[in-house]
Amino acid sequence: MKNKIYIIHENDEWVEPLRRELKDINASFEEWHLGKRNVDYLDKPPQGIFYNRMSASSHTRGHRYAPEYTAVVLNWLEKNNRRVINNSRALSLEISKSLQYKELENFGIKTPRTIYCSNKESILKSANSFNKPFITKHNRGGKGLGVKLFNNKKELDSHVSSKDFELSIDGITLLQEYIDANPKVIHRVEFVNSKFLYTVEVDASEGFELCPACPEDQIDVPETQFFGEYCPTIGNKFRIMKNYKRSSLVAKYEKFISKNGIEIAGIEYIADKKGEIYTYDVNTNTNYNSQAENNSEIKGMKSIANFLKEELLLLSNIKVVA
Ligand SMILES: Nc1ncnc2c1ncn2[C@@H]1O[C@H](COP(=O)(O)OP(=O)(O)O)[C@@H](O)[C@H]1O
Ligand SMILES: [Mg+2]
Repeated sequence: MKNKIYIIHENDEWVEPLRRELKDINASFEEWHLGKRNVDYLDKPPQGIFYNRMSASSHTRGHRYAPEYTAVVLNWLEKNNRRVINNSRALSLEISKSLQYKELENFGIKTPRTIYCSNKESILKSANSFNKPFITKHNRGGKGLGVKLFNNKKELDSHVSSKDFELSIDGITLLQEYIDANPKVIHRVEFVNSKFLYTVEVDASEGFELCPACPEDQIDVPETQFFGEYCPTIGNKFRIMKNYKRSSLVAKYEKFISKNGIEIAGIEYIADKKGEIYTYDVNTNTNYNSQAENNSEIKGMKSIANFLKEELLLLSNIKVVA
């Protein structure tokens, strides 16, 4: 059987830009939609390159156990020494902000002060330790799930006892210090092949307390308008930065990802009014804003497609020599 690129995912829509780029360069690939199908190879996995694009928010698309099944499939691939891009360790980080923050801090990267709560009582109690505005978010998140701003404990109390309150799918709610940025922007640093690709600045001034593109009060926005885990909205909210200068932060990120089995990712940070930088989200399943890329020579999905094809060639060459 011919070597192929295998794309592991659970959302057909998000794979479309990658499909286009792979077809464009005549790379042979196959999709494993792990929200829908079982992998039927009972013994050995096929030969090829395996790119894991499993998403933390799969349960919002009806694929509750897709990450768990992906972990099993990745274990099997790794046991059989297959080349996996964004491996089982990367998946563990994708589905746990707690693990992301622990590992970021391991590499000297500052994260916002965060408390992890396993039930409502603990959420209410922990809120007492914040004397400034704070936010809630889900440990297994994506799409801004559960991200809400509270100015004080009273506001939180009424939210937690309301019908709008929703627990994280893994039961863990984060209480996190709110970073008050001025201007209200966040940055997302993209990596492909474990190397810096570009940084995109996102205008978060509208509904900053929520995911900038997934506001819960606009849930009727059609999903086709969403580009990815952080659902970039339409318009000029996204700008790829020219001459991006934060080389020491980028160097730390590169070290952090390569020690955690991550080769493709978008990492988000925010700066407070004093310029202190806080990193708060690691997306191993990253997507790119096509409008922002219109003005850029570097294209995210094209870079991923080329990287996958090079890895496939490398695999084929090694096999020929052996
Ligand atoms: N500590 C924080 N302070 C201020 N805004 C935040 C903070 N954490 C998240 N946000 C805002 O909420 C959005 C979603 O949060 P994030 O942690 O990225 O969750 P998700 O994994 O669901 O994307 C961010 O893009 C940012 O705009
Ligand atoms: Mg995010």
